[in-house]
Amino acid sequence: MIEQKELQELVETARPATKEGKVADYIPALAKADKGDLAAAIFTKDGEFIAAGNDEKKFTLQSVVKVLTLVLAIMDRGTDYVFDRVGMEPTGDPFNSIAKLETRVPSKPLNPMINAGALAVTNMIVGASVEEKLGRLLAFIHDLSENSSIRFNEEVAESEFRTGDLNRSLCYFMKQHGVITEDVEKTMDFYTKMCAIEMNCRDLSRIGAVLANNGNDPATQRRIIPGQIVRIAKTFMVTCGMYNASGEFAMRVGVPAKSGVSGAILGAVAQGEGIGIYGPALDDKGNSVAGVRLMELLSAQYGLSIFS
Ligand code: DON
Repeated sequence: MIEQKELQELVETARPATKEGKVADYIPALAKADKGDLAAAIFTKDGEFIAAGNDEKKFTLQSVVKVLTLVLAIMDRGTDYVFDRVGMEPTGDPFNSIAKLETRVPSKPLNPMINAGALAVTNMIVGASVEEKLGRLLAFIHDLSENSSIRFNEEVAESEFRTGDLNRSLCYFMKQHGVITEDVEKTMDFYTKMCAIEMNCRDLSRIGAVLANNGNDPATQRRIIPGQIVRIAKTFMVTCGMYNASGEFAMRVGVPAKSGVSGAILGAVAQGEGIGIYGPALDDKGNSVAGVRLMELLSAQYGLSIFS
């Protein structure tokens, strides 16, 4: 598909956009990120990495993990159980909004990509303790990335746990309405640790390639996720993956993708490539500003939109 030199050129073309964004600071530990960073990797359907920028730099997944917890929750519980408790519709609201929880009857979160929906999904992962649930999620991520050294960043998890009172209030609201059944502090403990799972853009691109290949690892041909569940995940990535910018992103890029406030973007290209991007300068919706720019450039140059 793309040569390393070409990817490098596109990264450098997108990099000036980092100046237009701001790093997230509502989770204090994320404020330490270097605003000018931009790195990208592509894992091809032939099982090769192409990378540009500082591709060894680690970052936390933040909301990108919501795709993976959704997949694991459906593998654990089945679609009926999951979608009895969380909806399938985009919100048009910011990712951490509480507004629709109050105005909708029954009070279930609109989709699994917003914080309320992800907190509800967190509650569904099978495991007797936070350690067991986190261990299962990490084992799944080790499988997807073929990298068993992936862990969570304790400083980032602790920083969000200490300051995440908006997420706590979403949990209490949903607990009152029976969407969440577990102890809120335990849900927050697991949620903040899963958001703090740390990797580099190569690992992320490899996970994207499994989604792009409908649940098969393109390097080993091993089936990791049932195809039907990957279809659900990629549909949410298109409709809700870039929050209240998902419509514009679908129009401009047209690749199933998921962003996180760390500046991560996971992409699953229909032709079979996985994309992992890290650029911590964010736009006002919480998406990596240069990362989105790079996705636009890649999509235009290589005809990646699923709509064309
Ligand atoms: O719950 C939070 O606010 C963060 N752990 C994740 C939010 C996030 O990444 C939204 N992304 N654009």
